[in-house]
Amino acid sequence: MLEYIGTTLAPYYLYIKFVHVTAALGWIWSASTAYAYYLLPIMKAWRRNPHDAEIIPVRDWAMERFDEVVIYEHVFFPIVLVTGPMMYIAGGWNAGVAWLDLKLLIVIGLFIPIEITDYYMSHFGGNKRRIKASGDMVRFERAMHRHWWFFLITSPAVMVYGLLIVLLAIAKPI
Ligand code: HEM
Repeated sequence: MLEYIGTTLAPYYLYIKFVHVTAALGWIWSASTAYAYYLLPIMKAWRRNPHDAEIIPVRDWAMERFDEVVIYEHVFFPIVLVTGPMMYIAGGWNAGVAWLDLKLLIVIGLFIPIEITDYYMSHFGGNKRRIKASGDMVRFERAMHRHWWFFLITSPAVMVYGLLIVLLAIAKPI
């Protein structure tokens, strides 16, 4: 079965790779400027003056918008996760290829758990606009704090390991 899939996909390897690489780089960069130049400065101003009546509505607006900014990132990610295995099969890759093993360890061990959590906090139970519309402002404030802590903890790892797996995939240093 895998052999049949591999032979069928092999002629399209470079086209699948085009989709994989485009989606992979879109996944890494699509939300980064909005995070760095919109969300971060506003959230830092809020943390400096947590009860400032002027900053709180701006904070709410920025986080509610950011729940939408990440839609591109969250569309690109599954595309990467589908096209990667397609290339794995079509290219005859196997376990024991060091750069690919380390890359998959990082994707499965770090990025998939982070993205599942981010999907939930941005689009499902943790969506700020929907919680606000429910009128439960205690839950809204809790969701706001949780998502901000999640960004603070995960963003450095996402940038470092995100670029590392691109380096591993392109330069294949090991
Ligand atoms: C977030 C996750 C991922 C990112 C950022 C990513 C990134 C990349 C990049 C930038 C390349 C291009 C390398 C080149 O130009 O030679 C690549 C190639 C590749 N990736 Fe991924 N990838 C990811 C996930 C996966 C997954 C889950 C798999 C497999 C199960 C996978 C398998 C491959 C394979 C087989 C290649 C082809 C290498 C080649 O033809 O030289 N990738 N990846």
